Amino acid sequence: MTNTTPKDAVPRHVAIVMDGNGRWAKARYLPRLMGHHRGVEAARKVIRGCNSAGVECLTLFAFSSENWRRPEEEVSGLMSLFMSALERESAALFRHNVNMRFIGDRSGFSVSLQEKIQQVEAMTASCTGMRLLIAANYGGRWDILQAVRTVASQIAAGELDAVALDEATFSGLLSTNGVPEPDLFIRTGGEKRISNFLMWQMAYAELYFTDVLWPEFDEQCLRDAFADFACRQRRFGMTGEQVSGGKHA
Ligand code: IPE
Ligand code: IPE
Ligand code: MG
Repeated sequence: MTNTTPKDAVPRHVAIVMDGNGRWAKARYLPRLMGHHRGVEAARKVIRGCNSAGVECLTLFAFSSENWRRPEEEVSGLMSLFMSALERESAALFRHNVNMRFIGDRSGFSVSLQEKIQQVEAMTASCTGMRLLIAANYGGRWDILQAVRTVASQIAAGELDAVALDEATFSGLLSTNGVPEPDLFIRTGGEKRISNFLMWQMAYAELYFTDVLWPEFDEQCLRDAFADFACRQRRFGMTGEQVSGGKHA
């Protein structure tokens, strides 16, 4: 990716809802699974683009905790696709120094997929480059609940004082522990909703929606999203004057 964006305008953490695979396929009279296959290609391009732009962390929503509601055939096709994509791509990710982590309830997956996930995480654990978080069987509410369960058991065991619990401690119990909060949220496919993605973590993310269907999302689309992000003024509750250092905002 040719990087014409100033360094400080590049989001540190980009979180993407990769939506529109099914509609892309349907428009071409193809089975939905073909759309998901093309979606993997788009993900590869975006990983490369974010890596070369200097993004520190990329989170891709691959399968939500609600996606089990889809037809059996689509769900099992997606599971095989995850397995084959991990088998095919993990060595290249390692070569590019990408550190991979899976977030979500992995106990919902087959033992062989859980083992593959663990293997890829172990293989790239020493990688110091971009962090790639794959949200699989992920739900924002699940993430908050599992953190609450930990908090509750720590309080019950007398290890934590409920009054002392603060946002930073709680954030550290979420599956995204150790990565900065998303700066830029991208959703392709035209829907304007969060669909139970990073509910807590996106409190101050800049939201970017595009009608482009995920299989068609390429490096230029990513540059467009970054250019849009670069024009936003992030105020975090302050006034425009405060964040622009007194200059007219
Ligand atoms: C997103 O594409 C991929 C997954 C949810 C796995 P969709 O499959 O939701 O595509 P549309 O929304 O039906 O077009
Ligand atoms: C969100 O997309 C989940 C992923 C992209 C993995 P969906 O297509 O499942 O979202 P809804 O159901 O339309 O909100
Ligand atoms: Mg969808």
